[in-house]
Amino acid sequence: MANTVDKYFDLVDQNQQKFIETLREVVEIPSVSSDASKRGEVVRMGEWLQARWEQLGAQCKRIDPGKQILEGEELDLPPVILGQYGNDANKKTVLVYGHYDVQPALLEEDPFTLVEMDDGRLVGRGSTDDKGPILGWLLCVETHKQAGLDFPVNLKFCFEGMEESGSEGLDAIIIDQADKWFKGTDVVCISDNYWLGKNKPCLTHGLRGVSYFHLEVEGPGADLHSGVFGGTVHEPMVDLVHLLSKLVDTNGRIQIPGIYDQVMPVTDEEELTYENLEFSHVALATDLKHDVIIHAEERDTLKHRWRYPTLSIHGVEGAFYSPGDKTVIPAKVKGKFSLRTVPNMEPKRVAELVTAFLEKEFAKLGSKNRMRVIETHGGRWWYSSPNHPNFVAGARATELVYGVKPDLTREGGSIPVTLTFEENLNVNVLLLPMGAADDGAHSINEKIDRRNYIQGIKLLGAYLHEVAVTDMTA
Ligand code: BES
Ligand code: ZN
Repeated sequence: MANTVDKYFDLVDQNQQKFIETLREVVEIPSVSSDASKRGEVVRMGEWLQARWEQLGAQCKRIDPGKQILEGEELDLPPVILGQYGNDANKKTVLVYGHYDVQPALLEEDPFTLVEMDDGRLVGRGSTDDKGPILGWLLCVETHKQAGLDFPVNLKFCFEGMEESGSEGLDAIIIDQADKWFKGTDVVCISDNYWLGKNKPCLTHGLRGVSYFHLEVEGPGADLHSGVFGGTVHEPMVDLVHLLSKLVDTNGRIQIPGIYDQVMPVTDEEELTYENLEFSHVALATDLKHDVIIHAEERDTLKHRWRYPTLSIHGVEGAFYSPGDKTVIPAKVKGKFSLRTVPNMEPKRVAELVTAFLEKEFAKLGSKNRMRVIETHGGRWWYSSPNHPNFVAGARATELVYGVKPDLTREGGSIPVTLTFEENLNVNVLLLPMGAADDGAHSINEKIDRRNYIQGIKLLGAYLHEVAVTDMTA
């Protein structure tokens, strides 16, 4: 194994520039899943992937999950690309998952052009979330194949184009294919998260869930002139602002009664897991550009990121938001907020508590407007033990590439499919990140460092070699 892995590492080093060019090619496809006008690009990105994998000899199966209504338009959901590379009964089978859609990038000048900076940053939408990592798997196979190196495992893959928009349609496909396409899977690996800091790699064994809500307040039949109607009608926007202000206080404490009741208490054993991690408020404040951190202690910041629920307010549809002044009373507004959920919260209970609370608060306003709470999606949290041999393989691979033992982390973000795989395929799932804490996924100027991208391609390959020689039944 050592010989093959060394050769693989050398080849990755030699091909660095070519790999960056491949990243450039995919960043240029603006596969934004939340934008109806970009749906064709999302599909194009899925087709690009399928074609590249088929060129390598992988067997692919494209599944079109059906339709979706977005911005009043009926759209085809982008394809889920399932694939299989190698089918040797003597090898283990690893399933990898990733997403080829990206977040919108509204404030940037040229987000879909990859820019190589002198300090090693590769800036471009999707570079770290999640195009760099999904290319990692592809380039790993390509490199082995071109050099005639034995591929250590059978690789199955599942790439979707709707992750950033709630993975619509994917759960049903996984459940349906559990005994078909996914049959024989020994372990799962997902590379769709980030290191805790900028220098130390990690393995991740927990994610929060997310329950997303729209709070709609509707009043008159059309927008009104505030000079004529201000003070004489109940204004939807005023009601909405009152309601939104009740959800969470300015220190992040959720104000909805009962929401903390299902949260698991911190044990002494858990307390130890916050020791010796590569995480500091100084580094975090630098990444944030301004020190807006609520908590005094690092471990409290981590607890609020990983193991307590939080509530964020994202925006208001229908509100006036352009520069300049406009004296309008919007007729109908929709507030958007979400809760990140943790063990042992249940999305159904969360939705009940949120709805009951808002109805009660709305009744107190005595408004003649109409209010509706809509839960648009609810993905469950995932928490697993990091003692499984899959994590041992991930840790060995990390040491081989980076020369250090990885931190063990949980994450505040969500990848709902993680739990779907674990529950329906009955296998262990490892989250093995490529990017670093300051990559700015979902933010302006998303990047991946050249070092993380190139070493990350090595890491994913090394992991597959380690799985091949690790007893997964232990
Ligand atoms: N890559 C992220 C998940 C993530 C975020 C992992 C932060 C670790 C830290 C993923 O692409 C993502 O953003 N997911 C969405 C899921 C949601 C739309 C259901 C999220 O977390 O908001
Ligand atoms: Zn992602």
